[in-house]
Amino acid sequence: LQAKNFLSPERLEPMRTLLNAVRGQVAAERELQNPPAKLLPLQPGFIDLPQKMLDQLRRKGDASELGKINRISARLRENCDRVVVLGIGGSYLGARALFDALCHTYHNELPPKMRMGKPRLYFEGNNFDNDSLQDLLELLENTCVEPDLPAERWGIVVASKSGGTLETAAAYRAVRAEAAKYYGPKSPLLRQMIVPVTGPKGKLRDLARAEGHTDDDILTVPDDVGGRFSVFTAAGLLPAAIVGLDIRAILLGAAAMTKRFLEEPFDRNPVLQFAAVNHLMNEEYHKSTRVLGVWTKKLESVGQWYDQLLAESLGKTGRGPTPLTTVLSRDLHSRGQQLQDGARDKVVNNLFVRTNRHPPIMVGMSDRNEDDLNGISRKGYPDLLQAAFQGTSQGYLETARPSADLVLPVLTEHTIGQLLQMLMLATVVEGRLANINPYGQPGVEVYKKNMMAVLKATPNLPKGEVRDQAKGV
Ligand code: PA5
Repeated sequence: LQAKNFLSPERLEPMRTLLNAVRGQVAAERELQNPPAKLLPLQPGFIDLPQKMLDQLRRKGDASELGKINRISARLRENCDRVVVLGIGGSYLGARALFDALCHTYHNELPPKMRMGKPRLYFEGNNFDNDSLQDLLELLENTCVEPDLPAERWGIVVASKSGGTLETAAAYRAVRAEAAKYYGPKSPLLRQMIVPVTGPKGKLRDLARAEGHTDDDILTVPDDVGGRFSVFTAAGLLPAAIVGLDIRAILLGAAAMTKRFLEEPFDRNPVLQFAAVNHLMNEEYHKSTRVLGVWTKKLESVGQWYDQLLAESLGKTGRGPTPLTTVLSRDLHSRGQQLQDGARDKVVNNLFVRTNRHPPIMVGMSDRNEDDLNGISRKGYPDLLQAAFQGTSQGYLETARPSADLVLPVLTEHTIGQLLQMLMLATVVEGRLANINPYGQPGVEVYKKNMMAVLKATPNLPKGEVRDQAKGV
């Protein structure tokens, strides 16, 4: 992996010693008992998490965290037609990325038989969006309107590591109230259909206990795993397991990537290569906009997940590249103009999947050929995409715009596990290379503090009164 047209292998050569040193540092950080203040906050738990989860499953079986995820996900899968996943940031984007990348594109629209009984999945609690939340509540309320059909059941996964995030906490109040109305306020089903995922301590854990959940029914995001690094905790894995994804294969892929990162030399180490190329592009060549060009819409949410990872990890102290996800070939008809011809502040990382899940759809012959496509009638969709990819890369080459290619052989649980772990590790390496602490997100805390001050400074409406929308807020 090189930024084509910009970096020769020789340019990367002198970086090898530095990269090895940084890799050693990142590896050593996993063992630090009392880290020095300059390294704080330090949350390297994600690095070994996949292997630890797998080992714990082997040792403790059903009592392990993975065993719990399997048990709880089976309960929701067997009992629910719909599951609402509440969460934001790292408690949302990882689950969304896995769902979109690995499930049927129209999963929620499929008839139950084609979904093989797996629940539909909805994501909320990731915005203060009155109308979309109301739309969801309406949907949930009306899931049993057909008088001759059995009532549908629906469940809630509420994920918040801190337990104090307002977007998620407020949505949980609303959706839980709907569940209490639906099942009855004292129904034991409430406990069975609601699953909290949270840190070892915090308001959500307290609330869940008060609602009757035992610690055995609450899934945990460990303290040493940061929010945006938590895709391989229950925050990402529980929703994935609910829709029937093979979460063991996801973890095996991620664990294999950690091993590769720690053990392989630069030439066989995608983490070090990705970090090195992108570090140079940002720091030396001033390519401050980092485009992730995903060549399938199935990876758009992986792109949004990476947006958060990069923005919150490296966007600090006035520095850090700006992430931008673009879906191709779709966005060649919008952002393509700028990538080819606009400001020279960008590096494009292409993410290309070599093999499709389905056989190729052919262009095919037409009797009258009005659309003039008969000349390519024996080409399939993969050929069209490949040609667009090659054509775009050629365009970048002709105008000396840097791009790098990441090629996945196929989209599976194992390759997605590898990819996400690779991007998390590379982000930490990049942070250490640039002297930016990749953990923590002090900038995000600022809006939270200000928002709470605004809310506290304005009076609550008197009971029973509803705000007049026409007058505005
Ligand atoms: O990376 C992070 O820690 C944050 O972006 C969090 O993921 C996000 O703020 C959500 O936090 P929580 O899971 O505590 O609700």
